[in-house]
Amino acid sequence: MDNRAIGVFDSGIGGLTVVKELMKILPNEKILYFGDTARVPYGNRSEETIKRFSTECIEFLDKKDIKALIIACNTVSAVALELLKEKFDMNILGVIVPGSKMASFITKNKKIGVIGTNATVSSGSYEKCIKLEDENNTVYSKACPLFVPIAEEGLSESSIAVETAKYYLNELIEKEVDTIVMGCTHYPILERTIQKVVGETIQLVNPAKETAIEMKKYLEENDLLNDELGDNKNTFYITDDEKRFEKNLTDFIKIDKPNIKKINLKTKHIDE
Ligand code: DGL
Repeated sequence: MDNRAIGVFDSGIGGLTVVKELMKILPNEKILYFGDTARVPYGNRSEETIKRFSTECIEFLDKKDIKALIIACNTVSAVALELLKEKFDMNILGVIVPGSKMASFITKNKKIGVIGTNATVSSGSYEKCIKLEDENNTVYSKACPLFVPIAEEGLSESSIAVETAKYYLNELIEKEVDTIVMGCTHYPILERTIQKVVGETIQLVNPAKETAIEMKKYLEENDLLNDELGDNKNTFYITDDEKRFEKNLTDFIKIDKPNIKKINLKTKHIDE
């Protein structure tokens, strides 16, 4: 048993898709979330900047005595996971491997689409990982950067979302993929719209869900589950204004009076 918290890191609010899945299958676990809301989005930035920003954030989490960390951000998982694993002595799980495994497992025609940020797509990480699962898989990747602001503005079911999804996804439909990995934290928020546009014959993979399942397995196998029945004990650290984050959080996950703390990354102090 280990009653310390699980860390979840994301560039902003998107990692809440992972928190939601964790809360479903590991309701007793304490979650310590870190969203770099002051510097989001990471997805259009250079590899060097993504590595620097994520290192700075995880230095903060490293001092919080967590038992394991999920890098919920696909962009960071794609570009900086190896570096972070080298730098920090903690169990770190990214989202690319769990998402790739599930895609390779469920595809029938071995044509898999991957959608993500520009940085995730140009890293080729999903492609590499999906081919490692099965070298006969063919991967078609497409960056869909506009999905992020659409999700953040609460427009995930709007006509703008539908048109944007058609614009990005027709290419993958034409390639006859039978599986699409939603390789960005925000995209599961648009899942219904994406499914409507691509049709029911294409299966969508949500790496947030697969990663939560991996974390559960890891905790069980290593006897690290929390044995205290928790009343809400999650903490959300962010680097920008609380109000917008609180709205996004409570719209997406029903949490009563969430414990949100704004931190200053330079001084590492909490603005109370
Ligand atoms: N969290 C990012 C991801 O999953 C999306 C938002 C961003 O670009 O920072 O790739």
